Amino acid sequence: MLEVQKLVKQFTVRGAVSVNAINDVSFSVNAGEFFTLLGPSGCGKTTTLRCVAGLERPQAGKISLRSNIVFDSANRIYVVPNHRNIGMVFQSYAIWPHLNVFNNVAFPLRAAGRWDAKTIASKVAWALELVGLAGFSERPATQLSGGQQQRVALARALVKEPDLLLLDEPLSNLDAKLRERMRSELKRLQRELGITTVYVTHDQVESIHMSDRIAVMNRGRVLQIGKPYDVYERPTSQFVADFMGTTNLINGVLRKAVNGPTVEFVDTKLGLLQCSFSCAFSEGATVLISVRPENIKFAPENESASVNIVAGRIKERSAWQGMADYAIDVGGIELRMRAAVNGNAFASIDPVRLHLIPDKCVVVSTDKGERSYESAATL
Ligand SMILES: Nc1ncnc2c1ncn2[C@@H]1O[C@H](COP(=O)(O)OP(=O)(O)OP(=O)(O)O)[C@@H](O)[C@H]1O
Ligand SMILES: [Mg+2]
Repeated sequence: MLEVQKLVKQFTVRGAVSVNAINDVSFSVNAGEFFTLLGPSGCGKTTTLRCVAGLERPQAGKISLRSNIVFDSANRIYVVPNHRNIGMVFQSYAIWPHLNVFNNVAFPLRAAGRWDAKTIASKVAWALELVGLAGFSERPATQLSGGQQQRVALARALVKEPDLLLLDEPLSNLDAKLRERMRSELKRLQRELGITTVYVTHDQVESIHMSDRIAVMNRGRVLQIGKPYDVYERPTSQFVADFMGTTNLINGVLRKAVNGPTVEFVDTKLGLLQCSFSCAFSEGATVLISVRPENIKFAPENESASVNIVAGRIKERSAWQGMADYAIDVGGIELRMRAAVNGNAFASIDPVRLHLIPDKCVVVSTDKGERSYESAATL
C-alpha cells in the first residue's frame, strides 16, 4: 500500500549548516494496517510523515502509494500533496481559528473544487458523526476543548475518505485520562474504516497499545521494525531495548561466533549466562544482554535448574497495584526485578537467588554498532 525506500532529507539552516533530519529511511505499510513511527524528539518522525504527504521534497529516495510512484528522486517524479489522496492530522492540529467546525471540516472538500454544496454538507455530517461531533457544526473553533479540536482535525483528515491517514502525535496535547479514551476511540475508528494509517508518537506505551507494527527510529534512522510485542521482547539494539521500556543491560563478551537466531552462553560479570540471540555476532564481540524486570524470577530453594541462577541482596523494594519492584545487588551489578505480590507481602528472604530466564535474556548490539533490522520474529 505505502512503500518508502531509502529516503534522505537534509535541511539547510541559515544557508550553511546542513541537518540530516532523516537518513536512509525505508519501510512499507500494508493495506488496512496501523503502522507507527516511534522515537524520541528530533529523530525525524514528522519529517518522514511530511515527505510521505508531499509537504517536503527529500534529496533522495522513492515513495509509492497504491503502486503509484508519488516521489522518485532518480527519475525526478514529485506528485503534489493534493494529488496524493492523503489525510493528515498535524502535531499542532492546525485547525483554522476564524472558521467554525463545519467550515474547518469542509475546507479540503472546497479546496478540491469537485463537489457541490449539498454533497459537501453530507460528507461533513458523515465525518463529524464519525468522530462524535454531530451537532457541533456551528461552534466556533476557538470555543472547543483540546479533545474536541483533536476530533475536528481528525474529521477534516477523514472527510475526503483518503487512501492513507497520517497522524502526527495527535494525542500529545490531551491530559492523561482523555488521551487513554481517545486512544481506544481512534483505534476503533481506524478498524471500522479499515483505513491504512501511519501514526507518529514518542510514547512507547501508546505505540504498543495501538499498532499492528512499529518502526523504532533514532537520529534519522529506522533501527527496527516489527510487531509491538516482538520489538519489546526481542530488541536487536541497546537503543530499542531501552526505549521500549525498563530493562536491565548486562555487559558480555562472546566466546564464539553466533550465526543467527540461537541460544548460547555469554561471558559476563555474573558468570556464564545462557542467552537468546536474534541475529549474528562475531567471536569476541562485546555485547549487551537485555533482560526485562518481569523476566527475572525468585528461584525457589529446591530449584533444580543450575543455569542462569545468581545470588543477590535486596537494596530497595516497593509495591503498587499487585506488582512489586525490586532493586537487587548481584555482585556489584544492580538488577531491576518486577513480580506479582499479594498486598505488600514482599519476598523477605535475603540474600535471594534469582533466575534469569534464558529465553528472555536477549543479546543486543551496543549503540556504537547501531544497525537496522526487521525483528527476527517477523522474518
Ligand atoms: N524546517 C526545518 N529546518 C531545519 N531543521 C529542521 C526542520 N524541520 C526539522 N528539522 C530538524 O530535523 C530533525 C528531525 O525533526 P522532526 O521534526 O522530523 O523530528 P520529530 O521526530 O518529529 O521530533 P518531535 O517528537 O519533537 O516532534 C531535527 O533535528 C529538527 O531540528
Ligand atoms: Mg514531530
